[in-house]
Amino acid sequence: MDLATHPYRSVLYIPGSKERALDKARQLETDAIIFDLEDAVAPDAKAEARQTLAKALADGGYGKRVKVVRINALNTEWGLEDVRVLANAGADIILLPKVNAYPDVDNLADIIGPDMPIWAMMETPASVFNAREIAAHRQVTGLVSGTNDLTKELGCRYRADRLPLMQSLQMIVMAARASRGVVALDGVYNRFRDGDGLKAECEQGRDLGFDGKTLIHPAQIEVTNTAFAPTQSEIDLAQRQIEAFEESQKQGQGVAVVDGQIVENLHVVAAQRILAKAEAIADMAAE
Ligand code: COA
Ligand code: MG
Repeated sequence: MDLATHPYRSVLYIPGSKERALDKARQLETDAIIFDLEDAVAPDAKAEARQTLAKALADGGYGKRVKVVRINALNTEWGLEDVRVLANAGADIILLPKVNAYPDVDNLADIIGPDMPIWAMMETPASVFNAREIAAHRQVTGLVSGTNDLTKELGCRYRADRLPLMQSLQMIVMAARASRGVVALDGVYNRFRDGDGLKAECEQGRDLGFDGKTLIHPAQIEVTNTAFAPTQSEIDLAQRQIEAFEESQKQGQGVAVVDGQIVENLHVVAAQRILAKAEAIADMAAE
């Protein structure tokens, strides 16, 4: 599995304590899974969840889904033990919560060694200010928006248009893009039975530039996978743009015109990215 070209449209949280959900996830069409030991697991259940999760990972069966383990913060009574039990238990990536700044991820990197990729939760105001350095850490390959914690910390209100979060969300996308190959994931949509609301929020996150969205319930996967995948007409247009550009280059032109719009080299790069994404999604579906 190539983590760099893998799609990250749908990234489902599963409480590490819930055996039934851990098992169900082996059949779900999600691009990645965050196996959670932090907020989704009550303090009294943390120790057992660690063992339950280690066993689920050892049993395997998660196919092409990227396996991310969210540990507790290292300054909690559980964090270090989470790392000890789970860092070598089959996870592809470790997700660190409550990151404020670069040293938080660097401390984790010191403990887990240089070969394990790290994703950082972006859920404190400080993390948003420090997003650029966090994303630039050599082991960080993903930023995960923690919009519930962020809303709480900012003291802002929940709004359907997410206006109060907009600057933070954009900072997260910008920080990821300012570093090469860092995935940017949108936060969760809490009303998990509201498909229309989810669709609107997915499309907003997609338009902002996120690679995908974190989810809390299997019912959210299909809408999300669709929203973050290129549409057939986008794929067709990308192909036509690439062909038209190649044709005009043969004729010594630096630009082409498709559907009344200019196609320059940068549009070709964007078109190639769309095709690569479509291909990665097709690979994912071919289990
Ligand atoms: N991952 C995998 N499977 C899940 C799941 C998840 N996040 N959430 C629910 N399921 C499964 C259930 O186990 C159940 O499976 P079954 O039919 O085999 O019994 C099925 O989906 C239907 O579940 P449902 O009854 O609709 O939901 P629920 O009331 O049991 O749970 C939540 C609702 C929100 C509590 C639950 O979805 C959940 O715990 N989500 C994750 C929360 C989380 O991780 N938060 C931290 C990050 S914000
Ligand atoms: Mg959180």
